[in-house]
Amino acid sequence: MTDRGNGYETIFTLEATPLKYGPGASKEVGWELKRMGVGRVMLISDPGVVKANITGRIVELIEAEGIQVEVWDRSRVEPTADSFQAAADFAVEGDFDGFVAVGGGSSIDTAKVADLIATHGGEIMDYVNPPVGGGKKPPSPLKPLLAIPTTAGTGAEATTVAILDIPDQRVKTGISHAYMRPARGIVDPLLTMSMPSEVTSSCGLDVVCHAAESYLTKPYDARPKAKSPDDRPPYGGANPIADMWSAKALEYGGKYLRRAVADGEDVEARGAMMLGASLAGIGFGSAGVHIPHACAYPIAGLKHEWQPPGYPEDHPFVPHGWSVIVTAPASFRFTYDAMPERHHEVAELLAGEKINNPNENTLPEILIQLMKDVGAPKGVRELGYDESDIDDLVEGAMKQQRLLVGTPKDVTEDDLANILRESMENW
Ligand SMILES: [Fe+2]
Repeated sequence: MTDRGNGYETIFTLEATPLKYGPGASKEVGWELKRMGVGRVMLISDPGVVKANITGRIVELIEAEGIQVEVWDRSRVEPTADSFQAAADFAVEGDFDGFVAVGGGSSIDTAKVADLIATHGGEIMDYVNPPVGGGKKPPSPLKPLLAIPTTAGTGAEATTVAILDIPDQRVKTGISHAYMRPARGIVDPLLTMSMPSEVTSSCGLDVVCHAAESYLTKPYDARPKAKSPDDRPPYGGANPIADMWSAKALEYGGKYLRRAVADGEDVEARGAMMLGASLAGIGFGSAGVHIPHACAYPIAGLKHEWQPPGYPEDHPFVPHGWSVIVTAPASFRFTYDAMPERHHEVAELLAGEKINNPNENTLPEILIQLMKDVGAPKGVRELGYDESDIDDLVEGAMKQQRLLVGTPKDVTEDDLANILRESMENW
């Protein structure tokens, strides 16, 4: 925390969604909404969560407090501008005074966008990050959104972004602004008990990457000073407060993810991963993520051929956490020399013990062991790509400049090509 002068940033921000956490916490949804002052809400969910009878129970709890609720249950696993638009149309027409999301990251992201358009109007693409969209900023806070995650991964309840797939440009990108952060969250591990082990694996590895990338991102005070508070990006760089959240999430990921995957009924492990997802969400929501997430967008967006085991079979796709983790070992081998000590710290947090004589391969090896133990794909090739796709993947990753600026050292197209080549098979 030094003022380097010469135009470097001296300020960082840590904002967090107020969270209520614990087994059974979702039973208090009506009470929470009441004190948020809403009388008529749109509840955004998806067919799987409805089928698991989670949505229905939440609706009853809300109605029991005398709050009107209308359900829109068509969120899809990989939201597109069209699926966001359908939710936004429903939101505009319904004239709601609040929103509730019940589901995984895609339902929560869909709710953020429905809320944005219902509050401020305009076209979705106007708000999407440049260069894909117009980068317009919402002029004032949105209507209150209460997020209730049913997976332990994205941390979407704690973040300021909504991610969408743009099929005709073969790219995934997002809308990112502080006002997109949900007003409150309820994190109830009992809601994740029905998650298949593959979903637990992918979501949990996403948590680990959020925490590791944010811990290993370029520090806020090594970045150019924002011209105005409005220009300071939500992902501001590593800072002492974000470190605390990310460190705890790394510790939980290393200690509990294997158990949550092996035994879905392990409430302690489920609870720790659910809490870990929120902790990491707060950490990376402040510091940001970089290369593995930048590469994950084209890996998920370029080809839609892989049918992931354990997921609904309505369309082939690469689950987000797996699309991220496959390039993490090579990414952190590449970033190692920018901050060796911090790479050692991440390795030790994940391992839960002191590591003697660590080197650039220590963290990658710990990640690879974790991937093997939780049944993650071996690498980018298993997801349907080969060396002839590297140029396209690099081009897609380079579009994620919002994330790549967080890399702790300069990263070129050649560097990304090398990382992707090394990531074809991690073992
Ligand atoms: Fe992620």
